[in-house]
Amino acid sequence: MKILVTGGLGFIGSHVVVELQNEGFEVVIIDNLSNSSEDVLKGITAITGKQPLFEKLDLRDKPLVVDFFKKHHDILGVIHFAASKAVGESVDLPLLYYENNLNTLIYILQELQKKEASNIIFSSSCTVYGQADVLPITESAPIKPAESPYGNTKQIGEEIIKDTCKVSSNINAIALRYFNPIGAHESVKIGELPIGTPQNLIPFITQTGMGLREQLSVFGDDYPTEDGTCIRDYIHVVDLAKAHVAALKRLINGDNSGNYEVFNIGTGKGSSVIEVINAFEEVSGQKLNYKIVDKRAGDVIAAFADTTKANNVLGWKSELSLKDALLSAWKWEQEIRK
Ligand code: UD1
Repeated sequence: MKILVTGGLGFIGSHVVVELQNEGFEVVIIDNLSNSSEDVLKGITAITGKQPLFEKLDLRDKPLVVDFFKKHHDILGVIHFAASKAVGESVDLPLLYYENNLNTLIYILQELQKKEASNIIFSSSCTVYGQADVLPITESAPIKPAESPYGNTKQIGEEIIKDTCKVSSNINAIALRYFNPIGAHESVKIGELPIGTPQNLIPFITQTGMGLREQLSVFGDDYPTEDGTCIRDYIHVVDLAKAHVAALKRLINGDNSGNYEVFNIGTGKGSSVIEVINAFEEVSGQKLNYKIVDKRAGDVIAAFADTTKANNVLGWKSELSLKDALLSAWKWEQEIRK
């Protein structure tokens, strides 16, 4: 039961590798180390007692992808994380994002098309919904025009897979639309490693808590929400990782209905930025220095998932709370600054 995890040394990928190995899957990781470190392998091995196979490879190099699949002809499924994910950077470097996030997907699908049967899980994002008209957001909510090239690669990625599945009945695919993944493994041996100034809320909070950043900027407090700050659905990365295992098993067992399916993966609960700050202060026992600043361009007011489909069809449910996730993120931050 060999599973390829592309981007398997990244934040979400590494947590998925752990859950896969815990469930007895053999894992081979492809990662080009552009936003990750080979040290993550040590963390995965320490947690699971098993070292996954690892190939440093850039998936944009098509001949290398072809060779890889020839060598690993026994791959039963692919979980495809390898992609660039910084929204702001994608605006400045659109072609890098389109090449990195879409060419790689195409090359992988071309190899899967050659196989008798194959399974692929794609990392999509709630960003495809933009500001949804109805909350919580179901999978049938309309897809809104993307705010950034990054968001566009997730929309186009889904389309590429859907169109391919229409003509290739040998490929079974599931796209998982993640809400906001946060937190770290309870062992604090793997977690999020943002390079440079964090763009996402939780790493910025934990770095501010550690004194690495002077102050958190809260982007806007006059949104039409209860406390005026934006609302998101923050999901513990370990819960998210387990959703991937559930999705993969669904495909392997042939339980899927149709060869292309989409699921929202979130907690179903929305939290405002102020609520997140309060929860962080509670679990860390310290005050967070923050100030309200202007809104950030492109932010939606509120997004949280209707998880009914994932709960009932995938048989998966998030178990950990916002506080569990924030505590794990805080412990991880302390661990890496030792
Ligand atoms: C962002 C991306 C989204 C992507 C996801 C990946 C944008 C507009 N969206 O989601 O497409 O899939 O990351 O992780 O960038 N906030 C602050 N101060 C900060 C940082 C964030 O107040 O320093 C607020 C934001 O305004 C937002 C919330 O915290 O309301 C969460 O922000 P963030 O962690 O960046 O996630 P998203 O914007 O939801």
